[in-house]
Amino acid sequence: MSMASTLPIALSLFQTLAAASVNFPSTANGPRSTASAAAAAAAATSANTNANVSASPPTSSNVNSIMCDNCQVRPKYNDGTRVHPFCSKGCASQAKLPAQPPSSGNNNNNNPLPKSANCDFCGVRPKHFDGKRTHPFCSKACSKNASAQNPQLKPNAKGLCHAPGCTKPAHTNSDGSSGSYCSLAHKTLGETICLMCKQAAKLPQSHFCSSKCADDAEKSGPMLLEVPVGHVTFKSVADQFKASWRHTNKYCPPVRRVYKIVSTQASMTSYKAYQATVEKAGNFASTGRSAGNENRRWHGTKRECNIGDKGQTQLCQSTKCSLCCIIKSSFDISLWGTKTGWGRFGKGLYTSSTSSKSNDYSHNDCSSNLKAILLNKVIVGRGCKLTHDNTSLTAPPTGYDSVLAEKGGSLNYDELVVYTNDAIRPSFLVMYEP
Ligand SMILES: *[C@@H]1O[C@H](CO)[C@@H](O)[C@H](O)[C@H]1NC(C)=O
Ligand SMILES: *[C@@H]1O[C@H](CO)[C@@H](O)[C@H](O)[C@H]1NC(C)=O
Ligand SMILES: *[C@@H]1O[C@H](CO)[C@@H](O)[C@H](O)[C@H]1NC(C)=O
Ligand SMILES: [Zn+2]
Ligand SMILES: [Zn+2]
Ligand SMILES: [Zn+2]
Repeated sequence: MSMASTLPIALSLFQTLAAASVNFPSTANGPRSTASAAAAAAAATSANTNANVSASPPTSSNVNSIMCDNCQVRPKYNDGTRVHPFCSKGCASQAKLPAQPPSSGNNNNNNPLPKSANCDFCGVRPKHFDGKRTHPFCSKACSKNASAQNPQLKPNAKGLCHAPGCTKPAHTNSDGSSGSYCSLAHKTLGETICLMCKQAAKLPQSHFCSSKCADDAEKSGPMLLEVPVGHVTFKSVADQFKASWRHTNKYCPPVRRVYKIVSTQASMTSYKAYQATVEKAGNFASTGRSAGNENRRWHGTKRECNIGDKGQTQLCQSTKCSLCCIIKSSFDISLWGTKTGWGRFGKGLYTSSTSSKSNDYSHNDCSSNLKAILLNKVIVGRGCKLTHDNTSLTAPPTGYDSVLAEKGGSLNYDELVVYTNDAIRPSFLVMYEP
């Protein structure tokens, strides 16, 4: 039929559709904080151009007073080497110092200001002073968030064990090079570290060490948690990418970064409910399969921002950045009708077990040296095997939960199509070389 030649294009349109027209509430870390950081940076810049103004930065202590700059009642705290502006940590926080750019910003050259008194992560609250020294962050929460966003920044002197809190030298390899851990026990800990607290080993069937960490993560969704290189989860995802790269004429590129996608609690609840329904009807677990015959499948789409690049875990607010839209609120089948064209197997959500096929749909609308691909959890249930296109499908054939488009017929590579939003959730963001 004449339509056949246009179908690959239709499919590629479908592949890029996500919850694009949904309006998302702006998150605490969204544009507002970016704007305030920019305003603070602008303020700092104007201060720098006027030496007489910057000579008395707003955070400097009133040196003429021996009383706390905040309460004016108790004397300033003297730690033996210097006098602090406040009597206590409580007063330091209460003083609600004006926002300054984080010290990692580039405003520090020739900056007469002392190192920012504000938290290196939030830039809003003052750094924590424990009575002896000032910490880089205001709170444990910000310290955790900073290391979650950038595990490489964790204090970890060269040659020392990478396990949290360990200060022993790392094991020396037989070739004389330095390893990453002091002992086998710490190697195991590092390879299985909880993706939330990065302090304790995760539980076997979880990404987290405890129900507290699992709950904390779910409450913070949607968000990305970087999976460290060398972690068992990184290995499992990268191994699947490699094993499912089936285009023998194309070189399989290396995976550079893996992020766990944490969805909202509500989103996971409806996914789990759908999974339970499909499991109840099909009893997949009794034949050694996962509940609901859940499988991990690839999906390539358009990325408009630099999410997934080094240190970039903030979702953008663009409704045209399909990648961020899917990470935020998963796939949305109701939007199919807003676009013209049909997929080969009708109005469904398309994934593939073949990474090199989904790679064809991964597209950067940004400048980056990496490409992005999603690894998704999909409830396959009973899959109906089809080898020939049927563009009029809006549901799986009676008695089935999904369509498995097998290689053969009009297809070069496999596709999996589900027809309900709750049958799929994005699970990992994978960054690889183009
Ligand atoms: C800044 O202070 C210096 C020295 O105290 C003075 O000579 C100069 O005129 C001042 N500049 C402004 C813009 O106030
Ligand atoms: C840390 O990150 C979580 C999740 O992104 C967020 O909900 C929380 O507000 C952050 N905490 C701070 C102190 O920024
Ligand atoms: C396509 O699927 C519909 C709905 O299941 C079915 O009625 C129709 O016969 C199918 N068409 C072909 C060509 O298989
Ligand atoms: Zn160690
Ligand atoms: Zn934990
Ligand atoms: Zn984006």
